[in-house]
Amino acid sequence: MPRLKDKVCLITGAASGMGKAACHLFAREGARIVAADVSKADGEEVVAAVKKAGGQAQFVQCDVSKETEVRRAVAEGAKAFGAIHVLYNNAGIFPSDDHSVVDTEEAVWDKVFAVNVKGVAFVCKHGIPELIKAGGGSVINIASFVALVGCSVPQDAYTASKGAVIALTKSLAVQYGPRGVRSNAICPGPIETPLLMEWLLKEPAEKAKRLNRIPMGRFGKPEDIVNLALYLASDESAWTNGAALVADGGITSNYF
Ligand SMILES: NC(=O)c1ccc[n+]([C@@H]2O[C@H](COP(=O)([O-])OP(=O)(O)OC[C@H]3O[C@@H](n4cnc5c(N)ncnc54)[C@H](O)[C@@H]3O)[C@@H](O)[C@H]2O)c1
Repeated sequence: MPRLKDKVCLITGAASGMGKAACHLFAREGARIVAADVSKADGEEVVAAVKKAGGQAQFVQCDVSKETEVRRAVAEGAKAFGAIHVLYNNAGIFPSDDHSVVDTEEAVWDKVFAVNVKGVAFVCKHGIPELIKAGGGSVINIASFVALVGCSVPQDAYTASKGAVIALTKSLAVQYGPRGVRSNAICPGPIETPLLMEWLLKEPAEKAKRLNRIPMGRFGKPEDIVNLALYLASDESAWTNGAALVADGGITSNYF
């Protein structure tokens, strides 16, 4: 029995990395996918590939930092498939001009918070009423391990934005749990996706430095995270609410 049979899942940042992997895995598990991304060409390609593999999906172009676009995307998704049961807030940015607080420009803070925090809030604002209408559902918010431990090579706007995602998740869990909507965060460690590969892992020395800190001896793969998201999207997680689940190969447990 497919684990997401009859569920409609709205996945943001669906055109690349973990969002793309989630579209494929969730569709294979019987979900109907509303794939939202700011990138039209890449998003449509993912949807075409899901359909070619026998899945059901619809692309909606949407910049999550713009409330009007999020409102339209949620409405289009609900109209296409009749309901929404899962909100998977995966879209996030990690700009290379985000450093320590002392040398990060205001514009970088605004950009990072607009996508990583306001984006999650807008999808929840317009999506949670759909989940309630559907009789309940699951909100999955992607945070990061950097919200849990300090990093001597900082990206402070990003780190603070992911801390906000965890805090918001817990608040939503308490507010909407009584109405059948559970909210959980996932804190991934470094995952081999375009976001990270094009930046930190391009330099062999930088890559080796980070690999040294991972007890499992490798970076994560998108499926290490989307398998956890699959659990949260499915009814198997019916009593998991307000959690910030860590999947990081043991980094945050590692002193030396
Ligand atoms: N890759 C990692 O190591 C890592 C670690 C921890 C957490 N995360 C988080 O996981 C999530 C996915 O990361 P990824 O590595 O798969 O990223 P990615 O860069 O491969 O994909 C991100 C997707 O989000 C889309 N996107 C960006 N801004 C958007 C916006 N304003 N509106 C809609 N879509 C937008 C992009 O077009 C892209 O398709 C992010 O929230 C990221 O912060 C990543």
